Order: sequence, then structure tokens, then C-alpha cells
Amino acid sequence: MPVTVVVGAQWGDEGKAKVIDLLSKEHGYVVRYQGGHNAGHTVVVGDERYALQLIPSGILYDHVVPVIGNGVVVDMVTLFNEIDTLERRGISCSRLVVSSHAHLIFPWHQAWDALAEAGRGDAKIGTTLKGIGPAYADKARRVGIRAGEVLDAGSFAQALKERAVAENTTLVAAGGAALDVDAIVTQFAALAARLAPYVGDTVSVLHDALASGQHLLLEGAQATFLDLDHGTYPYVTSSNPTAGGACAGTGLGPRDIGRIVGITKAYTTRVGAGPFPTELLDDLGDKLVDIGREFGTVTGRRRRPGWIDCVMLRQAVRLNSLTELALTKLDVFDTFEHVRVCTGYRVGGAMLRNYPDRMELLADVEPVYADLPGWNQSLGAVREAAQLPAEAQAFLRLVETEVGVPIRIVGVGAERDDYLLWS
Ligand code: GDP
Ligand code: IMO
Ligand code: MG
Repeated sequence: MPVTVVVGAQWGDEGKAKVIDLLSKEHGYVVRYQGGHNAGHTVVVGDERYALQLIPSGILYDHVVPVIGNGVVVDMVTLFNEIDTLERRGISCSRLVVSSHAHLIFPWHQAWDALAEAGRGDAKIGTTLKGIGPAYADKARRVGIRAGEVLDAGSFAQALKERAVAENTTLVAAGGAALDVDAIVTQFAALAARLAPYVGDTVSVLHDALASGQHLLLEGAQATFLDLDHGTYPYVTSSNPTAGGACAGTGLGPRDIGRIVGITKAYTTRVGAGPFPTELLDDLGDKLVDIGREFGTVTGRRRRPGWIDCVMLRQAVRLNSLTELALTKLDVFDTFEHVRVCTGYRVGGAMLRNYPDRMELLADVEPVYADLPGWNQSLGAVREAAQLPAEAQAFLRLVETEVGVPIRIVGVGAERDDYLLWS
């Protein structure tokens, strides 16, 4: 199976980067297909922690060609900060290829993001304020500037200036602060010159790699329930993290894809606003946040905690054609007396068969739980499925049965090697 997709099965931060890092051993290319620097992907290698936002998580391996696909929105300031930081730490980014069709993020996108959030008052989405939504909006309005345009410095500078002047006018009219157009033009013309050598025809790069027998790993950012079409709209991001987005965001076709791995935590978290049926608003939730260190990599915000939700995960199987799950952070439950698994939703006394398609309904559902005993021991050193305590095995089996696909990888710690193969 030459192409594998890794996709978040919940609301993000499931531990996708750790699984990508692990699977990178068997793949020659690691490709981001959507999102931008709203992502925060953490890989821990010994004492070293790498927090990646735009660079594919396979970068830590010398044999991997990292690719930023056409579906990504690229903030050049963050990209080069990340490249500089990685290179200072001895990790070469010279192999990186950025799609000429990827759209670029500019300061007015961040300004519009902040203005829109301020205007929503209590109905804030809680975006990362990185300008992601406005950049995708410009792409859809067909006024965006793409990475390929940096290859002609003169016309790029002209387009940049025109856009900056136009955006400045509308921003000020909408009550926003004025942009320093000249400073933006100077800064971004320099960044564009730096981007030029990385820009390429990634569709050809990826198809040629496939034709020569290479294996490709497509790295989802965000997650299924933050998907613009299938998530809890409007509390979503502005791209399609679901597996279909991996085709649109790379130029690979659906028949190229074999394995589709959905990542779930042993529980659930969400950053930002929106419905969350299994949310824990009590001391147990605080305990999950403390032990699981549930604070955002990008914004530092506390993540909202809750129990694992198999209704969501069943929907994630449908939306992504998941062939398997990887379940991370099982070790976070080591000191829990009991653990809960949501197996269904009840509304007005009746069980729901399918995941509700109306967000209002999702806010009203009552989760139905199976209660399981905890294992009261540390899983950190467990490397074989058979060595897992019976209670942990029962938890994994219940999730597999409820969700209907096998769990293959199980995470038992943050470090690169803290995992075991379950089935
Ligand atoms: P991503 O956005 O899906 O890549 O996930 P993040 O990197 O934002 O958040 C996941 C966090 O959990 C990171 O700090 C990881 O180092 C950590 N992590 C990943 N897998 C495990 C695991 O199995 N156990 C524990 N304790 N931490 C993990
Ligand atoms: P990774 O890849 C968790 C959330 C934001 C907000 C909503 C919209 O690390 O899993 P945006 O800035 O994208 O317009 O914000 O989406 N969000 C994430 N939550 N993990 C992420 O990425 C996220 N990227 C965006 O908190 O609720
Ligand atoms: Mg994250």
C-alpha cells in the first residue's frame, strides 16, 4: 500500500505527529495536505521536543522528503522561523518542497481573523488567530496569492502591493487598525525571495515518487470534527482535514490511497468553542488536563477534556474510510479508578442511530457510557500487547468493538518509542 493517510479522528491534538514520526520510518515522503500554522505537532525524541506547525512531522528522518501540498496555507514568517530553528538544532530542511499552488498568508489575514472573532462577541469560535479562515476565504474568492508567484519577483511585488493597499482600505473601513503597507511589501518581498528555491510542482514530485516505488505518508492537521464540511460548523477550521481532503490537497487520486489511520486519544479534548457531548467539567477533567498536559502547542490554551466518544469515532470511520485506529495517551489513565467509554447518544429518551447532522442536536444529546475499572499501574514501560493489564486490554477491546475497526498502534507515553502494537 504505497500511500497512507493519517487523520485526526476527534477535534485535534490526538498525537498525530507522534504517529507520523513512527510511520515515517517506512515512508520516503511525508506530505501536509491542508491547514497551516494553526497546527501544533509535537514529536519527543529523548530529551528533545520538536513542536512543528508547517513542516511535515517526518522531517526528523534524513531519508524523508518533506512536502507542503497545494491544500496548505503557508505563513512564510512561521515557515522560516521553523526552518531556522530546526537547522540550528542540526535538522536539515533543504529537501523541503512547497507546492506552487499553495496559498500564502499575509498580515491582513491575521487582522481579519482577529476582527471577525472580536465581532462575534460571545459566539467566538476561538480560532488560533493565525489568519487561516481569511486565507482560505481569499482562495475561494480567487484573490489569493500563491507560492508559485514568488518565482517572478517583479509581478509578486506588484500583486503584494495591490493586495496590501486594497486590504488596508477595507480593514480600516471595517474598524481595524491600519496596515503598514510599505513595511509589509519590504518584509514579504524578502521572504518570497527566500521561498523561491523551495517552490515546486508537487503533483509531479508525488506521482513520480509513486511511480518509482516510493511510499508516501499524508499528514492531516486538525481533525475530522474540525472539518469545514463535516465538523461542528461554525466551530470548525476552514479546510478539509478528512481523508478526502488528502486527495484535493495533494493531487493524488482516491485510488492511490491504501491505508487510512485515524488517531484518537484514550479520551477526548477540544480547544476553542463548540459542542462536546462527553465533556468533563469536574475534578476528573482537571486531572486529565494535568496528567495529559492538555495545553495547546500553538496558543497555550487549556484544552477542554472529556471521555472517549465512540459515536464520534464511528462517524470518523465513515467520513474517512478509516482502515484502523491508533489510540494515544492510554498511560494518562494509569491512576484513574475507573474509565468511561461513550457508546451511544440518547435524545429525549430515544437512542440515536447516527451521528447528529445538526449541531443544535449535538449540544442536547445525553451520552450513554460503559464504565470500566482502571488498571492502577504504570503503562509507560509496556511494549507488548500481552503485557498490558487485563483492564487496559478490556478498554481497547471495547473501543474496537464499538468503533468497528482495529486499533493497531497504542501510545503509552510522549516519547518516540513509547508505543506498542496491539493488533
Ligand atoms: P497533534 O496535533 O495531533 O500532533 O498532537 P499534539 O502534538 O498537539 O498533542 C499531543 C501531545 O501528546 C503532545 O504533547 C505529545 O508529545 C503527547 N503524546 C502523544 N502520544 C502520547 C502518548 O501516548 N502518551 C502521552 N502521555 N503523551 C503523548
Ligand atoms: P492540530 O493539527 C486543535 C481549532 C481552533 C478553533 C478552530 C478554528 O495540532 O491538531 P482556526 O485557527 O483553524 O480557524 O481555528 O479550530 N484548531 C485546532 N484545535 N488542534 C489543531 O491542530 C487545531 N487547529 C485549529 O482552536 O477552535
Ligand atoms: Mg496539535
